This record gives sequence, C-alpha cells and structure tokens, in this order.
Amino acid sequence: MSQPGPPAMPRHVAVIMDGNGRWAERRGQPRSDGHRAGVESVRQVVRAASDLGIGWLTLYAFSTENWNRPKAEVDLLMKLPEEYFEQELPEVIERRCRIRTIGRRDRLPPSVRRSLEDAMTRTQDGTGMQLVFALSYGGRGEIVEAVRRIVRDHEVGRIDVDSLDEKLFTSYLDEPELPDVDLLIRTGGESRVSNFLLWQIAYAELHVSECMWPDFGRAQLEAALADFQGRERRFGQTSAQVRSTRGKS
Ligand code: FPP
Repeated sequence: MSQPGPPAMPRHVAVIMDGNGRWAERRGQPRSDGHRAGVESVRQVVRAASDLGIGWLTLYAFSTENWNRPKAEVDLLMKLPEEYFEQELPEVIERRCRIRTIGRRDRLPPSVRRSLEDAMTRTQDGTGMQLVFALSYGGRGEIVEAVRRIVRDHEVGRIDVDSLDEKLFTSYLDEPELPDVDLLIRTGGESRVSNFLLWQIAYAELHVSECMWPDFGRAQLEAALADFQGRERRFGQTSAQVRSTRGKS
C-alpha cells in the first residue's frame, strides 16, 4: 500500500469513462458517435499516462450492467476494443505497455475474446505501463467469483480458513497483481463508483471531472493528477500522525 502523506505520482489510475452518450446527444448525433469519439480519448489518455510514467492504468470499457443496453449499442461497444487493438497495438508494443484484462471474458463474443487474448499475448513481456481493460466487468461479481475459487480451494484442502487474510483474498481476484487504486477518475460529472473495482478502491482518491469522456485528454489527465498531488492521504491516521511520519522519512 502507498504511504500516508502527500502523494507523488499515483501508481494506479483507474478511469470510469462516462459521458459518451451525452457528448453525442448534445451535438444532435447518435450515441454511437460518442463511443467512437471515446476511443480517440482512450488513445490520448493511454499515450499521456505512459509518457507520465503511470504504472497501471485501468479503463472501465464495458460493465456487466452494460449488457442490458440496446443490442445495436452493445454490438458497437464490443467492436471498439478489437478496432483499438488493430490500430494501436504497434504503438502499445513500442511503448512496452502490457495489456491485461479483468471481467467475465467467457461472456464476450469469441472474436472479441480472440483479439483480447492476442493483444495480451503480444504484449506479455511489456515492462512499461500495465494497461488493464475492464470488459464485461462488475466489482461485486469479481468478489463473488473470488469467494467461489476460495471455497473450491478450501474443499480440496489447498487453503485453510485461518490463513485467509486480505493479501490471500486479493490473490483470488481476476488480476491478482492489480495494485490498490490510488486515483479513481470519473468523467461526465456524476459522483458514483458504479460497481467498479470495489475491492481495489478502498483507499482511492476520487476525482470527478465535468468533462464528457470524448473531451477528456492529456490536459484533463494532468489536472486530475495535480488534484491528486494536492491531497493528503491518511489511510485512517490523523493529520498530525501523517505530518510526523513525513518528518521522519
Ligand atoms: C459510458 O458512457 C461509457 C461506456 C458504457 C463505454 C465506454 C467505452 C469507450 C469509451 C470506448 C472503449 C474503447 C476501447 C478501446 C476499449 P455513456 O454511454 O453511459 O454516456 P452517458 O452517461 O452520457 O449516456
């Protein structure tokens, strides 16, 4: 876990990319145009975060609840990751980024799964920014799935109840290496966590941007980082404790 006190650069930034639909509707365009414009923001933010030395970037691209949207919108949202990988993979590889994924991959259409798995394989040696796509993802579902795996391992005697602690629990999540989120950004102006990374955001700093996602780029990311750097992270301690620890380090 990070240390109390004024934070340096966040190690893990997670983003709820909201507002594509409203961005399009305000222009009198179909919602699909908003999602397409949203891919351009993904491109810009990935570049900027990698340039700025962010270690982990997790993007909420499709929630389990998004399956309930109209079929045409779901079909488009399923196509976008494939198109993104097709176009961006060479640059992602050049940047030494590694693509990872969280969520119910078994629910994705086979072609999406294949392109995701191909992108993950081709970037698996990437030691730069770890770029995580949350696809068909829900935080509660991830936790329930972890419990299921734990119970199974318990049944075959692989773990005993007393050894279960937060660290061991984390190792049963979709991506065990995913660090705690330091900064959670939500675009589109609404202050909700929408079932995103419920376990990992326990101590995250929240930054709500009024920008709709297609208008969010490098400058807005830098503003979010500056906001983060102005916070005092206490992790349950008092301000005085944090100040005295800071003096010693
Ligand atoms: C929420 O906006 C956004 C989504 C449900 C999808 C986000 C997807 C992208 C930004 C593109 C993903 C691209 C890649 C490369 C994975 P909304 O439609 O709910 O907006 P609204 O609240 O204004 O209606």
